[in-house]
Amino acid sequence: MSADTRTAAPVTPAAPETRAADPALAARFWANAGGIAFGGDYNPEQWPREVHAEDLVLMKEAGVTLLSVGIFSWALLEPREGEYDFGWLDEVMDNLAGAGIKVALATATAAPPAWLVRKHPEILPVTADGTVLGGGSRRHYTPSSSAYRRYATGITRVIAERYKDHPALALWHVDNELGCHVSEFYGDEDAQAFRDWLARRHGTIEALNDAWGTAFWSQHYASFDEIQPPRVAPSTLNPGQQLDFQRYSSWALIDYYRALLAVLREVTPHVPATTNLMASSATRSMDYFDWARDLDVIANDHYLVAADPDNHVELAFSADLTRGIAGGRPWLLMEHSTSAVNWQPRNRPKLPGEMLRNSLAHVARGADAVMFFQWRQSFAGSEKFHSAMVPHGGKDTRVFREVCELGAALRRLAEVQGSLVESRVAIVFDYEAWWAAELDSHPSADVRYLDMLRDFHGSLFRRGVTADVLHPAADLSGYDLVLVCTLYAVDDGAAANIAAAARRGATLLVSYFSGIVDKHDHVRLGGYPGAFRDLLGVSVEEFHPLPAGGTVALDDGSTGSVWSEQVRLAGAEAPASFTSYPLAGVPALTRHAAGAGTAWYLATRPDAAALDRLVDRLLAESGVAPAAAAAPGVELVRRRHPDGRSYLFALNHGRSEATVDASGRELLGGGRFTGTVAAGGCAVVAED
Ligand code: GAL
Repeated sequence: MSADTRTAAPVTPAAPETRAADPALAARFWANAGGIAFGGDYNPEQWPREVHAEDLVLMKEAGVTLLSVGIFSWALLEPREGEYDFGWLDEVMDNLAGAGIKVALATATAAPPAWLVRKHPEILPVTADGTVLGGGSRRHYTPSSSAYRRYATGITRVIAERYKDHPALALWHVDNELGCHVSEFYGDEDAQAFRDWLARRHGTIEALNDAWGTAFWSQHYASFDEIQPPRVAPSTLNPGQQLDFQRYSSWALIDYYRALLAVLREVTPHVPATTNLMASSATRSMDYFDWARDLDVIANDHYLVAADPDNHVELAFSADLTRGIAGGRPWLLMEHSTSAVNWQPRNRPKLPGEMLRNSLAHVARGADAVMFFQWRQSFAGSEKFHSAMVPHGGKDTRVFREVCELGAALRRLAEVQGSLVESRVAIVFDYEAWWAAELDSHPSADVRYLDMLRDFHGSLFRRGVTADVLHPAADLSGYDLVLVCTLYAVDDGAAANIAAAARRGATLLVSYFSGIVDKHDHVRLGGYPGAFRDLLGVSVEEFHPLPAGGTVALDDGSTGSVWSEQVRLAGAEAPASFTSYPLAGVPALTRHAAGAGTAWYLATRPDAAALDRLVDRLLAESGVAPAAAAAPGVELVRRRHPDGRSYLFALNHGRSEATVDASGRELLGGGRFTGTVAAGGCAVVAED
């Protein structure tokens, strides 16, 4: 590392980024929503006028209040460069305004028109192996393409100017599901944007060399110009390069959003904006906690995995995460499905009542809008077998009847709008830790970031305990139980934030492979888990990952899988230890006093029964109780207004009637709550 390279390094000062989310615009949006918003994506360009007329009739029947319009309509709005055809959209917007339906109007940029691809093929995405992805589909652009940005901001301006004062316009729907299908881009323009981003992040090339640990394998760089994205290479790539590329890729997408937003803000400073996220256990490429700072209201799309019998638990995780991204405030469910999707290997329809349960589960967990992809099921194109609010069979169908019932149910829940979800448990979640934990060349390929997180979330779910899923730097002061799972990478500030929660009096549990590295993926030396070692009163010398499918026995009769390690006590006690060679007698679960609270450490992945016992113990210690007493199989969540009015959501996922200990008005059926919820049924109790 010579002084020469330091001075020769290009230095671009990190520009402070202004983030655009405006709470006043969000407040206006919700104030105008008039209850829980209801609707879906509306693609009238796929249908003749007569159908539009019927749409209005059926929308009224269903009680639709909000539609996302024009998401994939660029090629029809601008059939040739600079030639516009807005007649059909004008008519649709006017008709919707006449029917009192609000519109989340799209920027139409989610699928570039063929003329643009032909003129500027350099907008097409390039994958890590150099493959150029073609058009004829959707999302065939890279967000860093200067040509694409020019055209995308252009059409956005034309749309914004045309509809800026339209009475139907309630929200901007910027692009669509940014990062869906492709979320990392490896072309030449992307490479340059990556270099520029690195220069802003690191300042000097030597700072980058230090961060990436380039003394290893001759990876030292003399200038930013030498750096490439982590394209396909003979062996493992530099972890710092991979991690920074992941950060850059998330930034590149939200930076593209910001470019469109700047136009919208200029033309319509009074109109809030969002883009639909895909927060769930399946989406890891975008740091939505970071993105949230640019979205006036948070919107999320969620699809069940039909083959997963516990898919309602995953739904709950997605909704709890979305609420965390929304800072606890209400959010929009922008898309889910009325019944089957078309993109899983086998697409089963939802069972009667399932769609209502799914919808109310999102509402229970903070959604103040329930929307679907899409209003009317397409008869052509690749989504023709995807369900919709109006199926191929028309209005005389089970799905449309259930859609109307849902609309009516949401109207009865109007008073719930604006209330906040109650939770005293925080599960810490960090996209950067996810990326870092699953880099290659780690002790075990079986350590998946979400496993322990989902295990704990699921156990709490089954106990009727709601958890907020929060960024490690979030305010943890209101939580009595804090769970930190596989937080492999953590910076000093977040580690201190987590420790402070325990010292203040919370019960904290940290699971294995947490606190191992800093934000550069540099190991914290002196014994694992470096960032939490003193807090936990343990020190770990060596990891003993288990064989595929293997288990290890513990002295409380339980078993662990995936992981074990050589834990040494340094102040903590050991409620449970491993019993098998080579770790016989080594602590597997530890507990340490930390200020006014306690800090537990879990060194293996417990079997389901052991995990439930541990959760019971943590709940008892932290004094956290379920939202209500209920029979097994009932999902329980409480929302509460600041003035104290509270609503208990009780969703029975079981096949038999279930009791729930609550009293008050039952909003869905009307009248007093009877204390039971029918098999597969739902109750929302405005509590006495
Ligand atoms: C979403 C997308 C929609 C539709 C839907 C089908 O990812 O935003 O346009 O394709 O999936 O499930």
